[in-house]
Amino acid sequence: MPVPALQKFEQRIGRQLRLLELRKTMIERKIGRQIRLFEQKRDGFGKKIEQQIRQFERKRGIRLDDEVRFLRSWIERPLTIGAVTPSSKMLARTMARYVDPDSDGPVVELGPGTGPITEALVEAGVDPSRLVLVEFNPVFCRLLRARYPDATLVQGDAYSLRRLLETLLLEPAAAVVSGLPLVTKPIKMRLRLIRDAFELMLPGAPFVQFTYSVASPLPKRIAGFSVESSERIWMNLPPARVWVYRKN
Ligand SMILES: C[S@@+](CC[C@H](N)C(=O)[O-])C[C@H]1O[C@@H](n2cnc3c(N)ncnc32)[C@H](O)[C@@H]1O
Repeated sequence: MPVPALQKFEQRIGRQLRLLELRKTMIERKIGRQIRLFEQKRDGFGKKIEQQIRQFERKRGIRLDDEVRFLRSWIERPLTIGAVTPSSKMLARTMARYVDPDSDGPVVELGPGTGPITEALVEAGVDPSRLVLVEFNPVFCRLLRARYPDATLVQGDAYSLRRLLETLLLEPAAAVVSGLPLVTKPIKMRLRLIRDAFELMLPGAPFVQFTYSVASPLPKRIAGFSVESSERIWMNLPPARVWVYRKN
C-alpha cells in the first residue's frame, strides 16, 4: 500500500478506535447509573421493611433484631441465605437432639447465621468451646463472635470444608450440624461437602441437616451412608424436616 494511503487507513482506524472508546465509556456510565439506581431502590426497599419491623416491635414491645439482620441479608443474597427468618426454637432443638453432648471432639456448625441452632446446642449441653462455626456472612460473623466468644469462628466458604478445617481440627469432629441451603447447590457439590465432612468426623458421627424441601437433600441410597429423618416440623416458617446421615 502506498504511504499516503497507509496514513489515511491508520487515521481512519484511529478515529474508529476513539469512537469505540467513547461508546464504551458511555455504556459503562449507563450501566453504572443503572446499578446505582438498582442499589438505591434495593436499599430503599430494605429500609422500608426495617421501618415496618421497628413499628411492629414498638407496638408489641419486642425486639426482632436477628430477624431484621436475617431479612436484610436475604434481600441482598436470597440464594445464599436460603431462608427469610432464622430457624424456630423447635427446629433448632430438633437439630441439637441428634448431637450427643457427652461425645468427644469438636462440634462443627455450617451456616450458623444468627445462631438459633448454636443456642440450642449450648442449651442441650454442648460446651461452647467445642463449637466450630463456619459462616461467610460478615454481619453474622460479628454477631456470633460477640455471642459465643469461646467458640472458634471460621469466616469462610463451608463448601471448602476440608481446606478450612483439616489443620484447625486437632481431633475428629463429634458431629457436623448444617443450616446451609444445600438444595440450592448442584448435587455434586452437596456430595463433596458430605464426603469432606465424613473425612473430618468420627465413624458413626452424625451429619445433621435441615431442609424445607420434601425430599432428602442428599440421595438416600449412598453406599456406606445410613439415613434417618425427623417428623416434619410444622412450627417453623416454612415447615422443615431434619435429616441425619452417618458413615460407619
Ligand atoms: C438458611 S440460613 C440458616 C441460618 C441458621 N442456621 C438458622 O437456622 O437460622 C443459611 C446460612 O448459611 C450461610 N451460608 C450460606 N452459604 C454458605 C457457605 N457457602 N459458607 C458458609 N456459610 C454459608 C448463610 O450466610 C446463612 O447464615
